[in-house]
Amino acid sequence: MELTNFLSNSYEETLAIGARFAQALKPSDVICLFGDLGAGKTAFVKGIAKGLGLDPLKVHSPTFTLMNIYDGKMPLYHFDLYRIQAEDLFGLGYEEYFYGRGVAAVEWSERLEDLIPDNYWKVELRHAGEDRRCISISYFGAIQAERLKLLKGD
Ligand SMILES: Nc1ncnc2c1ncn2[C@@H]1O[C@H](COP(=O)(O)OP(=O)(O)OP(=O)(O)O)[C@@H](O)[C@H]1O
Ligand SMILES: [Mg+2]
Repeated sequence: MELTNFLSNSYEETLAIGARFAQALKPSDVICLFGDLGAGKTAFVKGIAKGLGLDPLKVHSPTFTLMNIYDGKMPLYHFDLYRIQAEDLFGLGYEEYFYGRGVAAVEWSERLEDLIPDNYWKVELRHAGEDRRCISISYFGAIQAERLKLLKGD
């Protein structure tokens, strides 16, 4: 497991970090987001959308649905487990979205419990001052070194 830390000084910077991270993504990647209310999970997902060439303005936490789909060459499946139980994901057939042709981003991933995949990106966002956030990104499982290089931008 390799860990990379970023410091974001603004909402826009969090979007930019998410967009850069998106360059390392491949179909069937699962991104588990962790962080308190207002930590910037949705902002980071907007950044991912931007990086994948999707419209970040369309990115909102799914409230009345279990998941939002932002369609494109590599679709983004956006889950928010704040109001739902992991069991609800079975009814949705979540595996199709976790292990399909797109990437899945999950807010409040602690609620996934046993459903956390063997291989996944862990993105932790922490408050570090009013407009400042600490963003830690790690990958659990085996991953090509080139993909991690894309994440770091070097
Ligand atoms: N550096 C920063 N990065 C991200 N958001 C920031 C930053 N500084 C301030 N903010 C503000 O923090 C809030 C982050 O909201 P966002 O919806 O992304 O959080 P969230 O983690 O998804 O919250 P929730 O748990 O409610 O889903 C926004 O109001 C944003 O303007
Ligand atoms: Mg959110």
